[in-house]
Amino acid sequence: MRKKFYITTPIFYPNARLHLGHAYSTTLADIVARYHRLRGDEVYFLTGADENTEKVARAARNAEQEPQTYLDSVVASFKRLFSELTISSDQFIRTSDEETHWPGAMELWKRIAARGDLEKRSYTGLYCVGHEAFITEKELSYGKCPEHDEAPQKLSEENYFFKLSKYTAEIKKRIESGEFAIVPQTRRNEILALLERGLEDVSFSRPADKVTLGIPVPGDPSQKMYVWCDALASYISALGFGGKDGTLFKKFWPADVHVIGKDILRFHAAIWPAMLLSAGLPLPRTIFVHGFITSGGRKMSKTLGNVIDPELLIKEYGAEAVRFYLARHISTFEDGDVTLESFKAAYNADLANGIGNLVSRIMRMAEHTNIPKQTNERKDTDDAHSFPQRFTDALDSYNIQAAATLISEAVASLDRRIQETQPFKLIKENPEKGNALIAELVNGLASVPRMLAPILPKTADIILTLIKENRMPATPLFPRR
Ligand code: MSP
Repeated sequence: MRKKFYITTPIFYPNARLHLGHAYSTTLADIVARYHRLRGDEVYFLTGADENTEKVARAARNAEQEPQTYLDSVVASFKRLFSELTISSDQFIRTSDEETHWPGAMELWKRIAARGDLEKRSYTGLYCVGHEAFITEKELSYGKCPEHDEAPQKLSEENYFFKLSKYTAEIKKRIESGEFAIVPQTRRNEILALLERGLEDVSFSRPADKVTLGIPVPGDPSQKMYVWCDALASYISALGFGGKDGTLFKKFWPADVHVIGKDILRFHAAIWPAMLLSAGLPLPRTIFVHGFITSGGRKMSKTLGNVIDPELLIKEYGAEAVRFYLARHISTFEDGDVTLESFKAAYNADLANGIGNLVSRIMRMAEHTNIPKQTNERKDTDDAHSFPQRFTDALDSYNIQAAATLISEAVASLDRRIQETQPFKLIKENPEKGNALIAELVNGLASVPRMLAPILPKTADIILTLIKENRMPATPLFPRR
């Protein structure tokens, strides 16, 4: 039987267009999803938008638009970007979708309430709209949230509280046993340290008259669900949990992996498992936590004004170039920097002078020789779904950069082999030996699209076709810039 594989991206705040940092979460998830499909797994890949939030409502007000009109246009820009980036998601969930999302979010709330884990308390706290979370006095710098450069709102109100503290020990146990995996190890340690200090209960609702958007609390319309409680529920509501058709939920839950950035680890590795435990549902198997894209040394963010628009890069260099940069040059588990200059330099080195040039060199020679065509055809059908062991190891441990590096190494080693053996000379001196060598190079080249397929799907297809048809590309795959 085929193995099922459920993978998600975070759902994105549609308070502005997405920048390259957001595209990063989605691209990494897409690479993993494609890899599993190529291995024969039955993959379900979810992405979406986190709409019931104050920052979205505020952005709509600033744009002088009705929230729904505003949301629709920003969400359309997300979908366009994902399609340009060839993101192979199966579903795009929107938390404003009352039909698809709300029943699941409400059902989850009801189950948590039935367990006795929600309690109304009066509360005074500092709310950071940028974080969509309460923050503490200690986290402020000169009265402002340092990440969002904005003073928090002082709120004094009645909220439902989720008894998160109750689940500290159980979550810790699940992480320690490996049943609930956090990748990489450094993030696992970080969350274990947090659990060691103990979790505090969290506010899970806001008074309905104080927030613009949001799902009404079941049984108490004077309150609306807290953004994160609503957003996390999308991972199961999207599968039909609490709705009319639970087929997908039955088949795909628990998630095999939630892909997230390091800033939202606490929500995914503490609050989310606690909600699921409370509701009596299985926990996701893995949380894969990537680092930040920085630009000029600081986290790429709208607040800091150092964003790079992925659509501009796509227009200039193509989507495959963006995907390759993100996979190859951003350290998957740490942070990685990108500037327009470093992007261009990497494009020329990896793609124009690297993969693109190698394909032209080898296929130009192959075109003029009589390599038994069969060899190539057999190669690409037999081995299309088998990856080198080191590549599998890298992707199974979510080390996307290590996987992409293996491609660069294969390209460099074929380049070296051409340099050392000079096949174009050999073919004149000893046609038989020359032909054999070129056939060997073509077979070597055939290993590249196999590894490229999850990362650069279009380029992989083109290379396979060229090999099959034994011809060089009519125009360079990646023109020099
Ligand atoms: N809406 C929440 C997630 C809810 S999931 C149930 C959210 N949205 S977000 O739009 O702010 O961020 C979405 C993703 O983009 C997160 O994984 C975040 O880490 C990632 N990134 C945002 N800026 C980033 C960089 N500069 N670099 C890498 N990833 C970054 O959080």
